[in-house]
Amino acid sequence: MSQTAVLISRQLPEKARELLSNAGFEVNVWEEERPMPKQELILRCQRVEALLCTSIDEIDAAFISSCSHLKVISTFAVGYDNIDLVAAERARIRIGHTPGVLTEATAEIAFGLMISVARHFMDAHHQIGNGEWKYFVPTKNLGKDLTNRTLGIFGLGAIGFEMARRCQAVYGMKIIYHNRKRNPRAEEELGASLVSFEALLERSDVISVHASLNDQTKGIFDLSAFAKMKESAIFINTARGGLHDEADLLHALKKGQIWGAGLDVTNPEPMNPDNPLLQQPRVLVLPHIGSSTEFTRDEMARIAAENIISFFENGNLVHEVRSS
Ligand code: DGY
Repeated sequence: MSQTAVLISRQLPEKARELLSNAGFEVNVWEEERPMPKQELILRCQRVEALLCTSIDEIDAAFISSCSHLKVISTFAVGYDNIDLVAAERARIRIGHTPGVLTEATAEIAFGLMISVARHFMDAHHQIGNGEWKYFVPTKNLGKDLTNRTLGIFGLGAIGFEMARRCQAVYGMKIIYHNRKRNPRAEEELGASLVSFEALLERSDVISVHASLNDQTKGIFDLSAFAKMKESAIFINTARGGLHDEADLLHALKKGQIWGAGLDVTNPEPMNPDNPLLQQPRVLVLPHIGSSTEFTRDEMARIAAENIISFFENGNLVHEVRSS
């Protein structure tokens, strides 16, 4: 009996290949470190029935129309804004993702960015290398206090909840949030209150973004949003770079409309090394490492592979995404 062929578009934790091979699949892996060019991805997909991709593979309508024979695509990510779900559904391609397992790791990065920006970690570190640490200066490197401040969560799902839980447990922060729907658990356990987008902007000392990127949220943090925030506010985004407008963020920082920013996501990715945001004193940018812990990435590999195995075994994905 011929084996079902799967393409893995990047080098992933070994678990993905291992699980698929042990389940009897023929596994093809793109062995280079750089991402697979789109044409190459399309070409290689012609020989397989399933694709295990990542969040940087562009699974748009053009890809789907060239690869409509695929039965299942499983992405090594919780976010799926790189996938045209409507086109996939039309082609009857089932889509899987890896929610749940990266919640803590990503919340930790948001929490770490918040403290690092509030207390000048990066800038202060560089001052030493630049020979600027000559003596104690009582008025230098003054940070923002976080204790008892207000945290505004934009998009209170699992990751936003974990960020809020940490901020409340450690700093006693008051939690407000803006979401499409109420989050009863956050209201009950954290005393969080649902507020309008305007109120979130105006009242938060720290805003942490955890929403998915879609037509409603794209570029929502723009000039007018930053202008409504407190001059002392810190903006954190660990969700997707497309949620904020990078030029507007730079403008807001330069004009003192907000105080600082911590980003684990940029637009585009990778960020250009010449990007002026990198020169801003109270900005810390990370190269999209929210889910980057050994355990989390292993778990993501496991679930991404199990989505495919389960689909071919019983027609169900472990975690399926649908367009509506
Ligand atoms: C995710 O899983 O969506 C992370 O942001 C990695 O892309």
